[in-house]
Amino acid sequence: MNIVLLGPPGAGKGTQGERVAQRLGIPKLATGDVLRAAVREGTEQGLKAKGYMERGDLVPDAVILGIMKEALARPEAAKGVVLDGVVRTVPQAEGLERVLGDLGRRLDAVLMFDVDEDELVRRLSSRTVCEACQTPYTGREPGASCEKCGGRLVRRKDDEPEAVRNRMRAYREQTAPVIDWYQRKAAAGGNAPRFIRIDAEGPIDEVTERVMRQLKEQA
Ligand code: AP5
Repeated sequence: MNIVLLGPPGAGKGTQGERVAQRLGIPKLATGDVLRAAVREGTEQGLKAKGYMERGDLVPDAVILGIMKEALARPEAAKGVVLDGVVRTVPQAEGLERVLGDLGRRLDAVLMFDVDEDELVRRLSSRTVCEACQTPYTGREPGASCEKCGGRLVRRKDDEPEAVRNRMRAYREQTAPVIDWYQRKAAAGGNAPRFIRIDAEGPIDEVTERVMRQLKEQA
């Protein structure tokens, strides 16, 4: 099963993506994680992406399409993949369709995570992430240890207020059209991916159950 997770910054794509991938027994691809690793390692891709990410701007489509193509061709992705934040512009959505088509596969579902904007700001302003495994936490101080791997928790540079405002703007201007694009496709029927809205507020476990229920009911 190939699934795209859509939603604004802080909607819980990373949190739920990890859980849903585990429940379905397939890998997760998060372009944000891939790019942050490239920045840490100082690769050419990381050097290209760093400025965009720190400002909260989207990284150019060509870079994302390269990551997408390479990750989807890996043998471990053959059974399906959860795509967390991978599609943020219409050219990326078209590119994903092409890449999957070339591999003889298709996108099964698009999950749209709905969260109120005040709640998003609250989540992002109190988030720390594990420097090693990227697990996000709310309300834990930088410097504390990750429960999963013992790594150090840090604040993301793009969780500073100015960058958060920019990320929200990029979402409204560049990613909102992708939602319409997928909705129109789903409405046309045929082989189009299902478009599923998820109420992504409330306890994390409950949101996971909502996602799993919807995937099952609408299969
Ligand atoms: P990325 O890392 O993907 O950032 P994002 O989309 O802004 O999303 P976040 O990681 O901030 O939030 P999330 O929805 O994953 O929420 P999370 O689970 O952490 O991308 C970073 C940057 O990389 C982009 O700005 C861009 O520059 C670049 N990039 C990446 N992909 C790209 C692409 N395709 N095209 C172009 N550029 C790209 O949850 C947030 C917080 O809330 C956490 O603290 C979590 O613990 C908490 N939380 C989660 N669920 C709940 C809940 N139900 N209740 C309470 N708290 C919750």
